[in-house]
Amino acid sequence: MITTDLQYVIKQLTRGEIVAIPTETVYGLAGNALHEVAIKKIYALKNRPLTHPLILHIAPDADLSSWVSYISKEAQTLMDAFWPGPLTLVFPCKPGCLPSLVNAGQNTVAIRAPHHPVTTPLLQQLDFPLVAPSANLFGKISPTTAEHVTHGLKDPSLLVLDGGRCPIGIESTIIDVSQPTGYQILRHGIIDEEALNTLLPNRLLQTANSVRVPGKLPVHYQPEKPLHCFSSSESMQVFCKQNPQAYILSFQKKTQFANYAGVELICDPQALAYALYYELRRADESNAPLIVLELPPDTIAWAGIRDRLKKAGSWH
Ligand code: TXA
Ligand code: MG
Repeated sequence: MITTDLQYVIKQLTRGEIVAIPTETVYGLAGNALHEVAIKKIYALKNRPLTHPLILHIAPDADLSSWVSYISKEAQTLMDAFWPGPLTLVFPCKPGCLPSLVNAGQNTVAIRAPHHPVTTPLLQQLDFPLVAPSANLFGKISPTTAEHVTHGLKDPSLLVLDGGRCPIGIESTIIDVSQPTGYQILRHGIIDEEALNTLLPNRLLQTANSVRVPGKLPVHYQPEKPLHCFSSSESMQVFCKQNPQAYILSFQKKTQFANYAGVELICDPQALAYALYYELRRADESNAPLIVLELPPDTIAWAGIRDRLKKAGSWH
Protein backbone atom coordinates (compact mmCIF):
# COMPACT_ATOMS: atom_id res chain seq x y z
CA MET A 1 0.00 0.00 0.00
CA ILE A 2 1.40 3.39 -1.01
CA THR A 3 0.85 6.24 1.47
CA THR A 4 1.90 9.82 2.22
CA ASP A 5 0.68 9.64 5.84
CA LEU A 6 3.87 10.31 7.82
CA GLN A 7 2.23 9.87 11.25
CA TYR A 8 0.91 6.42 10.28
CA VAL A 9 4.39 5.44 9.06
CA ILE A 10 5.89 6.59 12.38
CA LYS A 11 3.30 4.49 14.24
CA GLN A 12 4.07 1.39 12.18
CA LEU A 13 7.86 1.74 12.51
CA THR A 14 7.50 2.24 16.28
CA ARG A 15 5.48 -1.00 16.46
CA GLY A 16 8.33 -2.91 14.78
CA GLU A 17 6.75 -3.05 11.31
CA ILE A 18 8.79 -2.45 8.18
CA VAL A 19 8.06 0.38 5.73
CA ALA A 20 9.70 1.31 2.42
CA ILE A 21 10.89 4.92 2.56
CA PRO A 22 12.22 7.36 -0.03
CA THR A 23 15.75 8.75 0.14
CA GLU A 24 17.67 11.02 -2.22
CA THR A 25 19.49 7.95 -3.64
CA VAL A 26 17.01 5.04 -3.88
CA TYR A 27 14.06 3.75 -1.81
CA GLY A 28 15.04 1.82 1.34
CA LEU A 29 13.25 -0.98 3.17
CA ALA A 30 13.25 0.47 6.67
CA GLY A 31 12.76 -0.85 10.17
CA ASN A 32 13.73 0.04 13.74
CA ALA A 33 17.48 -0.69 13.99
CA LEU A 34 17.10 -1.68 17.64
CA HIS A 35 14.28 -4.18 16.97
CA GLU A 36 15.54 -7.65 16.04
CA VAL A 37 12.21 -8.88 14.71
CA ALA A 38 11.92 -5.88 12.39
CA ILE A 39 15.45 -6.49 11.08
CA LYS A 40 14.71 -10.16 10.43
CA LYS A 41 11.60 -9.16 8.44
CA ILE A 42 13.77 -6.92 6.24
CA TYR A 43 16.27 -9.69 5.46
CA ALA A 44 13.43 -12.13 4.76
CA LEU A 45 11.44 -9.83 2.46
CA LYS A 46 14.54 -8.91 0.45
CA ASN A 47 15.70 -12.52 0.37
CA ARG A 48 19.08 -11.18 1.51
CA PRO A 49 21.78 -13.35 3.10
CA LEU A 50 22.34 -12.50 6.78
CA THR A 51 26.04 -11.96 6.03
CA HIS A 52 25.35 -8.61 4.28
CA PRO A 53 25.32 -5.81 6.85
CA LEU A 54 22.81 -2.96 6.81
CA ILE A 55 23.23 0.82 6.83
CA LEU A 56 22.01 2.74 9.87
CA HIS A 57 19.95 5.77 8.78
CA ILE A 58 19.95 8.69 11.20
CA ALA A 59 18.76 12.29 11.45
CA PRO A 60 21.49 14.84 10.57
CA ASP A 61 21.67 16.07 14.18
CA ALA A 62 21.73 12.60 15.81
CA ASP A 63 24.44 11.86 18.39
CA LEU A 64 26.85 9.34 16.85
CA SER A 65 28.45 8.48 20.17
CA SER A 66 25.62 6.02 20.89
CA TRP A 67 26.92 3.66 18.19
CA VAL A 68 30.41 4.80 17.16
CA SER A 69 33.57 4.32 19.25
CA TYR A 70 35.97 6.47 17.19
CA ILE A 71 35.52 9.38 14.77
CA SER A 72 38.66 10.05 12.69
CA LYS A 73 39.56 13.51 11.39
CA GLU A 74 38.68 12.29 7.89
CA ALA A 75 35.26 11.14 9.07
CA GLN A 76 34.52 14.50 10.68
CA THR A 77 35.58 16.38 7.53
CA LEU A 78 33.38 14.17 5.34
CA MET A 79 30.37 14.51 7.64
CA ASP A 80 30.78 18.30 7.75
CA ALA A 81 30.95 18.45 3.95
CA PHE A 82 28.38 15.86 2.85
CA TRP A 83 25.83 15.14 5.61
CA PRO A 84 22.95 15.08 5.18
CA GLY A 85 23.54 13.55 1.76
CA PRO A 86 24.38 10.50 -0.37
CA LEU A 87 27.43 9.40 1.64
CA THR A 88 27.65 6.37 3.94
CA LEU A 89 30.53 6.18 6.43
CA VAL A 90 31.80 2.96 8.00
CA PHE A 91 32.87 3.57 11.62
CA PRO A 92 34.25 1.34 14.39
CA CYS A 93 31.16 0.18 16.26
CA LYS A 94 30.61 0.48 20.00
CA PRO A 95 30.34 -3.15 21.12
CA GLY A 96 26.88 -4.34 22.12
CA CYS A 97 24.99 -1.17 21.19
CA LEU A 98 23.16 -2.63 18.18
CA PRO A 99 21.69 -6.05 17.37
CA SER A 100 24.47 -8.02 15.61
CA LEU A 101 22.09 -8.51 12.66
CA VAL A 102 22.64 -4.84 11.75
CA ASN A 103 26.36 -5.18 11.00
CA ALA A 104 26.45 -8.95 10.42
CA GLY A 105 28.65 -9.38 13.48
CA GLN A 106 31.47 -7.12 12.18
CA ASN A 107 33.15 -4.60 14.48
CA THR A 108 32.14 -1.69 12.25
CA VAL A 109 28.83 0.00 11.50
CA ALA A 110 27.80 1.84 8.31
CA ILE A 111 25.86 5.06 8.90
CA ARG A 112 24.28 7.70 6.73
CA ALA A 113 22.07 10.76 7.20
CA PRO A 114 19.76 10.98 4.17
CA HIS A 115 18.81 14.33 2.70
CA HIS A 116 15.19 14.04 1.65
CA PRO A 117 12.15 16.29 2.23
CA VAL A 118 10.06 13.40 3.57
CA THR A 119 12.61 11.09 5.21
CA THR A 120 14.84 13.62 6.98
CA PRO A 121 11.83 14.91 9.02
CA LEU A 122 10.73 11.29 9.55
CA LEU A 123 14.10 10.43 11.09
CA GLN A 124 13.99 13.57 13.22
CA GLN A 125 10.65 12.48 14.70
CA LEU A 126 11.72 8.92 15.58
CA ASP A 127 13.48 8.13 18.83
CA PHE A 128 15.42 5.25 17.23
CA PRO A 129 17.59 4.94 14.08
CA LEU A 130 16.41 2.97 11.05
CA VAL A 131 18.16 0.28 9.09
CA ALA A 132 17.33 0.54 5.40
CA PRO A 133 18.83 -1.57 2.64
CA SER A 134 17.65 -0.74 -0.86
CA ALA A 135 14.00 -1.84 -1.22
CA ASN A 136 14.58 -4.46 -3.93
CA LEU A 137 15.00 -8.23 -3.99
CA PHE A 138 18.62 -9.19 -3.35
CA GLY A 139 20.68 -8.82 -6.55
CA LYS A 140 18.04 -6.84 -8.48
CA ILE A 141 17.78 -3.16 -9.44
CA SER A 142 17.10 -0.67 -6.64
CA PRO A 143 13.75 1.19 -6.85
CA THR A 144 13.60 4.94 -7.45
CA THR A 145 9.79 5.36 -7.19
CA ALA A 146 7.15 4.04 -4.77
CA GLU A 147 5.57 2.04 -7.61
CA HIS A 148 8.88 0.37 -8.39
CA VAL A 149 9.11 -0.79 -4.77
CA THR A 150 5.68 -2.39 -4.92
CA HIS A 151 6.36 -3.92 -8.31
CA GLY A 152 9.75 -5.36 -7.33
CA LEU A 153 8.98 -6.74 -3.87
CA LYS A 154 5.57 -8.16 -4.81
CA ASP A 155 4.14 -7.85 -1.29
CA PRO A 156 0.78 -6.03 -1.53
CA SER A 157 0.67 -5.54 2.25
CA LEU A 158 4.01 -3.67 2.37
CA LEU A 159 3.57 -0.03 3.36
CA VAL A 160 5.48 2.35 1.05
CA LEU A 161 5.94 5.99 2.00
CA ASP A 162 5.67 7.95 -1.23
CA GLY A 163 8.27 10.68 -1.62
CA GLY A 164 8.23 10.93 -5.42
CA ARG A 165 11.11 9.94 -7.66
CA CYS A 166 14.55 9.77 -6.01
CA PRO A 167 16.60 12.78 -7.19
CA ILE A 168 19.98 10.99 -7.34
CA GLY A 169 18.96 7.54 -8.58
CA ILE A 170 21.89 5.30 -7.53
CA GLU A 171 22.96 4.16 -4.07
CA SER A 172 25.19 6.23 -1.76
CA THR A 173 28.99 6.31 -1.93
CA ILE A 174 30.36 4.14 0.92
CA ILE A 175 33.63 5.16 2.60
CA ASP A 176 35.46 3.20 5.28
CA VAL A 177 36.69 5.72 7.88
CA SER A 178 37.38 3.16 10.60
CA GLN A 179 41.21 3.43 10.27
CA PRO A 180 43.27 6.37 11.60
CA THR A 181 45.63 6.16 8.58
CA GLY A 182 43.20 7.31 5.87
CA TYR A 183 39.98 6.32 4.12
CA GLN A 184 38.91 3.69 1.59
CA ILE A 185 36.14 3.76 -1.00
CA LEU A 186 33.96 0.66 -0.59
CA ARG A 187 31.25 1.60 -3.08
CA HIS A 188 31.44 4.36 -5.68
CA GLY A 189 28.54 6.74 -6.03
CA ILE A 190 27.66 10.24 -7.12
CA ILE A 191 30.12 11.74 -4.60
CA ASP A 192 33.21 10.71 -6.55
CA GLU A 193 36.91 10.17 -5.89
CA GLU A 194 37.80 13.63 -7.15
CA ALA A 195 35.42 15.36 -4.73
CA LEU A 196 36.84 13.24 -1.89
CA ASN A 197 40.43 13.94 -2.88
CA THR A 198 39.81 17.69 -3.07
CA LEU A 199 38.55 17.60 0.50
CA LEU A 200 41.09 15.07 1.83
CA PRO A 201 44.25 15.20 -0.34
CA ASN A 202 46.46 12.08 -0.22
CA ARG A 203 44.38 10.27 2.41
CA LEU A 204 42.93 7.55 0.12
CA LEU A 205 44.28 4.12 1.15
CA GLN A 206 44.83 1.73 -1.77
CA THR A 207 45.23 -1.51 0.22
CA ALA A 208 42.66 -4.27 -0.30
CA ASN A 209 39.75 -4.17 2.10
CA SER A 210 38.27 -7.34 3.52
CA VAL A 211 34.88 -5.96 4.50
CA ARG A 212 31.78 -7.17 2.70
CA VAL A 213 30.31 -4.75 0.19
CA PRO A 214 27.86 -5.31 -2.66
CA GLY A 215 30.38 -4.32 -5.32
CA LYS A 216 32.43 -7.38 -4.43
CA LEU A 217 29.72 -9.77 -5.62
CA PRO A 218 30.08 -10.98 -9.22
CA VAL A 219 26.47 -10.07 -10.08
CA HIS A 220 24.16 -7.42 -8.64
CA TYR A 221 21.84 -4.61 -9.79
CA GLN A 222 20.47 -6.92 -12.47
CA PRO A 223 17.48 -6.22 -14.71
CA GLU A 224 15.17 -9.15 -15.60
CA LYS A 225 16.23 -9.18 -19.25
CA PRO A 226 19.77 -9.83 -20.56
CA LEU A 227 21.73 -6.56 -20.57
CA HIS A 228 24.57 -6.10 -23.08
CA CYS A 229 26.92 -3.16 -22.50
CA PHE A 230 29.18 -1.75 -25.24
CA SER A 231 32.08 0.68 -25.11
CA SER A 232 32.56 0.77 -28.90
CA SER A 233 29.75 2.23 -30.92
CA GLU A 234 30.78 0.18 -34.01
CA SER A 235 30.44 -3.18 -32.27
CA MET A 236 27.19 -2.01 -30.68
CA GLN A 237 25.82 -1.27 -34.14
CA VAL A 238 26.86 -4.68 -35.48
CA PHE A 239 25.25 -6.40 -32.47
CA CYS A 240 22.03 -4.40 -32.86
CA LYS A 241 21.76 -5.22 -36.56
CA GLN A 242 21.76 -8.88 -35.52
CA ASN A 243 19.20 -8.13 -32.76
CA PRO A 244 16.62 -5.76 -34.25
CA GLN A 245 14.27 -6.29 -31.29
CA ALA A 246 16.83 -4.87 -28.83
CA TYR A 247 15.86 -2.04 -26.46
CA ILE A 248 18.53 0.66 -26.81
CA LEU A 249 19.90 2.94 -24.11
CA SER A 250 22.43 5.12 -25.89
CA PHE A 251 23.82 8.64 -25.98
CA GLN A 252 23.19 8.40 -29.74
CA LYS A 253 19.77 6.78 -29.73
CA LYS A 254 18.16 9.48 -31.88
CA THR A 255 20.89 9.55 -34.50
CA GLN A 256 22.35 6.02 -34.71
CA PHE A 257 19.52 3.84 -33.41
CA ALA A 258 16.41 5.73 -34.49
CA ASN A 259 14.66 2.56 -35.69
CA TYR A 260 14.93 0.72 -32.38
CA ALA A 261 12.86 0.88 -29.21
CA GLY A 262 14.58 2.68 -26.33
CA VAL A 263 15.63 6.10 -25.10
CA GLU A 264 18.44 8.57 -25.59
CA LEU A 265 20.68 8.98 -22.54
CA ILE A 266 22.26 12.25 -21.46
CA CYS A 267 26.07 12.02 -21.26
CA ASP A 268 26.43 13.50 -17.78
CA PRO A 269 27.04 11.40 -14.63
CA GLN A 270 24.26 12.98 -12.57
CA ALA A 271 21.76 12.81 -15.40
CA LEU A 272 22.60 9.17 -16.12
CA ALA A 273 22.48 8.20 -12.42
CA TYR A 274 18.99 9.70 -12.28
CA ALA A 275 17.92 7.78 -15.39
CA LEU A 276 19.76 4.46 -15.00
CA TYR A 277 17.56 2.22 -12.81
CA TYR A 278 14.39 3.99 -13.91
CA GLU A 279 15.12 3.36 -17.59
CA LEU A 280 16.33 -0.21 -17.02
CA ARG A 281 12.95 -0.93 -15.40
CA ARG A 282 11.15 0.61 -18.38
CA ALA A 283 13.26 -1.59 -20.64
CA ASP A 284 12.25 -4.62 -18.57
CA GLU A 285 8.59 -3.65 -18.96
CA SER A 286 8.89 -3.28 -22.76
CA ASN A 287 8.31 -6.10 -25.24
CA ALA A 288 11.98 -6.26 -26.19
CA PRO A 289 13.75 -9.54 -25.35
CA LEU A 290 17.08 -7.88 -24.51
CA ILE A 291 18.61 -4.53 -23.54
CA VAL A 292 21.65 -2.92 -25.18
CA LEU A 293 23.42 -0.05 -23.44
CA GLU A 294 26.23 2.28 -24.50
CA LEU A 295 28.79 2.54 -21.69
CA PRO A 296 29.90 5.97 -20.46
CA PRO A 297 33.62 6.88 -20.60
CA ASP A 298 36.11 5.21 -18.25
CA THR A 299 36.83 8.26 -16.05
CA ILE A 300 36.56 8.96 -12.30
CA ALA A 301 33.27 10.83 -12.58
CA TRP A 302 31.58 7.75 -14.09
CA ALA A 303 32.95 5.16 -11.62
CA GLY A 304 29.68 4.82 -9.68
CA ILE A 305 27.67 4.07 -12.78
CA ARG A 306 30.28 1.83 -14.45
CA ASP A 307 30.67 -0.24 -11.26
CA ARG A 308 26.96 -0.97 -11.23
CA LEU A 309 26.89 -1.80 -14.94
CA LYS A 310 29.79 -4.24 -14.47
CA LYS A 311 27.58 -6.28 -12.14
CA ALA A 312 24.35 -5.73 -14.04
CA GLY A 313 25.17 -7.11 -17.47
CA SER A 314 27.76 -8.54 -19.87
CA TRP A 315 30.39 -6.22 -21.30
CA HIS A 316 31.49 -6.32 -24.95
O1 TXA B 1 21.89 4.84 -0.89
C1 TXA B 1 21.93 3.89 -0.12
O2 TXA B 1 22.95 3.61 0.55
C2 TXA B 1 20.67 3.04 0.02
C3 TXA B 1 19.55 3.90 0.62
C4 TXA B 1 18.28 3.12 0.86
O3 TXA B 1 20.02 4.49 1.80
N1 TXA B 1 20.91 1.88 0.79
C5 TXA B 1 21.64 0.84 0.32
O4 TXA B 1 21.69 -0.24 1.19
O5 TXA B 1 22.16 0.83 -0.77
P1 TXA B 1 22.15 -1.70 0.72
O6 TXA B 1 21.94 -2.53 1.92
O7 TXA B 1 21.44 -2.08 -0.50
O8 TXA B 1 23.68 -1.55 0.46
C6 TXA B 1 24.52 -1.14 1.53
C7 TXA B 1 25.75 -1.96 1.58
C8 TXA B 1 25.52 -3.38 2.07
O9 TXA B 1 25.26 -4.27 1.04
C9 TXA B 1 26.82 -3.71 2.75
O10 TXA B 1 27.63 -4.52 1.95
C10 TXA B 1 27.48 -2.36 2.98
O11 TXA B 1 26.58 -1.39 2.58
N2 TXA B 1 27.71 -2.27 4.41
C11 TXA B 1 26.83 -2.15 5.40
N3 TXA B 1 27.42 -2.17 6.59
C12 TXA B 1 28.74 -2.28 6.36
C13 TXA B 1 29.89 -2.36 7.18
N4 TXA B 1 29.81 -2.33 8.51
N5 TXA B 1 31.09 -2.48 6.58
C14 TXA B 1 31.18 -2.51 5.24
N6 TXA B 1 30.13 -2.45 4.40
C15 TXA B 1 28.93 -2.34 4.95
MG1 MG C 1 21.15 -2.78 -2.36
